[in-house]
Amino acid sequence: MSKVFAALAVSVDGRITGDHPRPGSGLGDGGTLFDWYGDPRNAAVYDKLLDRVGAVVTGRTTYDDSEGFGGGSPHPTAPMVVLSHRPQPAEHAGSPRQVFAASVQDAIGQARVLAGGRDVAIQGGATLTAAIEAGLVDEVVLHQVPVLLGAGRPFFGRLPEHVRLTLVDAVPGAGVVHLHYRIDH
Ligand SMILES: NC(=O)c1ccc[n+]([C@@H]2O[C@H](COP(=O)([O-])OP(=O)(O)OC[C@H]3O[C@@H](n4cnc5c(N)ncnc54)[C@H](OP(=O)(O)O)[C@@H]3O)[C@@H](O)[C@H]2O)c1
Repeated sequence: MSKVFAALAVSVDGRITGDHPRPGSGLGDGGTLFDWYGDPRNAAVYDKLLDRVGAVVTGRTTYDDSEGFGGGSPHPTAPMVVLSHRPQPAEHAGSPRQVFAASVQDAIGQARVLAGGRDVAIQGGATLTAAIEAGLVDEVVLHQVPVLLGAGRPFFGRLPEHVRLTLVDAVPGAGVVHLHYRIDH
């Protein structure tokens, strides 16, 4: 059974962006969240996660801040389902790697089909929170960076009740700690 997971870079104060994120500068002043990325000492963890992915579900804010991924996808091979109440921008209409969905259930359902038995990765904190609330997420990975950004978009939003997690793995990396949790259903 394929899994649904999110693996995002996050500050110790829980931010997935710095201040002033915007189209063309998705992390705002929080570029330091990805200082660890590309260091060969972190590659094993990151590449293993990348290899699992058969499709991506991306929130509209992530999509817009990444300028629609140029009509492609955040993953080198996997297609993307964008969760949004708004239509796809005309400039990317017809892209074979982008599908739009207006509910989190539909987005993850479509992504599971596109993933063809591989896993589904979620991008965006609000989208992840909606998917957790809908009971659709199996795992969460925090690439936790030792900084307090003080401002920025949060990894997790408001939830109606507590969600218990089990720590599966904690890997001290170079300039980052990779914390891998399973969601207890
Ligand atoms: N640090 C990292 O690893 C990392 C990774 C990915 C992204 N990011 C950053 O994260 C930021 C965006 O995160 P975010 O949490 O603010 O937003 P997000 O999850 O990317 O997008 C939120 C939007 O998705 C749509 N949406 C969410 N839940 C929905 C639902 N249940 N039904 C229908 N549509 C729904 C809505 O779009 P509508 O406006 O269409 O209603 C909502 O405004 C970006 O700035 C990006 O650069 C960081």
